[in-house]
Amino acid sequence: MIRSIQLAFHACSWEYLVSCRGVGPSWGKAMLKEKIGVVGAGKIGSAILRGVIRAGLARKQQVIASDVSRVLRQSVAKELGIKVTPNNGQVCDFADIVILAVKPQILDPVVKEIAKNLGKAKLLVSVAAGVPLSRIENNLAKGARVVRVMPNIPCVVGAGASCYAGGANANARDLERVGSILNSFGIGLPVEEKYLDAVTGLSGSGPAYVFLFIESLADGGVQVGLSRDVALKLALQTVYGSARMALESGKHLGQLRDEVTSPGGTTIAGLYALEKGGMRGTVMQAVLQATKRSQALGKGES
Ligand SMILES: NC(=O)c1ccc[n+]([C@@H]2O[C@H](COP(=O)([O-])OP(=O)(O)OC[C@H]3O[C@@H](n4cnc5c(N)ncnc54)[C@H](OP(=O)(O)O)[C@@H]3O)[C@@H](O)[C@H]2O)c1
Repeated sequence: MIRSIQLAFHACSWEYLVSCRGVGPSWGKAMLKEKIGVVGAGKIGSAILRGVIRAGLARKQQVIASDVSRVLRQSVAKELGIKVTPNNGQVCDFADIVILAVKPQILDPVVKEIAKNLGKAKLLVSVAAGVPLSRIENNLAKGARVVRVMPNIPCVVGAGASCYAGGANANARDLERVGSILNSFGIGLPVEEKYLDAVTGLSGSGPAYVFLFIESLADGGVQVGLSRDVALKLALQTVYGSARMALESGKHLGQLRDEVTSPGGTTIAGLYALEKGGMRGTVMQAVLQATKRSQALGKGES
């Protein structure tokens, strides 16, 4: 059920984004000529690889990943059919575009470790929350090309929301390549680097907020007598359907809300409870706190 909703959602968002905005995934567009590598094949690293392969942007033979965990390497190799290695340098030697997806706290030593293999010839794409381009560039050869990206986890189902910013030496082709990778599994929007902490607070961390909201909606259903199974299916479909409607209609969210809120009806009673509980302020606080945490990680705080 959840899988079918995911598939329906990504199909819908692709169709919508391609037809309405022209910034949708790259299905049907040219495959990447470059080879892609991921250093750190954890949650987001492997999600990006899944997204790229599913979108048909790269063949399995064009892709390599490294990770310290043997178990993880084996499972990624089995699932995606790509080359894996414990050696980060080997990823850089093989790939033209290297996606660095290790935790921000260990980013500096890993960047130093691969600096020689990268040189100026390879493009480094960092997805680490908070870590500024200048800090990465300072640990690399002079002239090294770096792009900083903030993806989010729904890229695994082709419905990711990512932003990216180029470093001092990244050229237009580098940005175009990164844009096509990100657009292959959702939307990828260029922004100035100074906005990437805010992007982290909103879309980078946002899926967890939405999962919590869906779970809360289902809990509410259980509280008023629905089975867990039915409540969860209804909660998921409600969030999926509402997001799809907002995307496809292009209407202001306030207008969409007013259209389903009758005077003296059930929805206004529910909305009153949400407003009284400070939902809007709480969600805004979540984005603010996550943005601050991203800024703190960027300053090297653990
Ligand atoms: N998860 C998200 O939704 C998300 C969204 C946007 C950005 N990001 C960013 O993506 C990065 C990775 O996050 P994640 O959630 O994917 O973390 P994760 O699941 O822990 O993945 C990181 C992987 O890197 C491995 N690793 C550790 N040291 C390594 C080394 N020296 N060389 C190669 N691999 C190494 C880890 O292995 P061990 O676990 O064995 O140490 C782990 O498998 C972070 O910088 C985060 O800020 C994540």
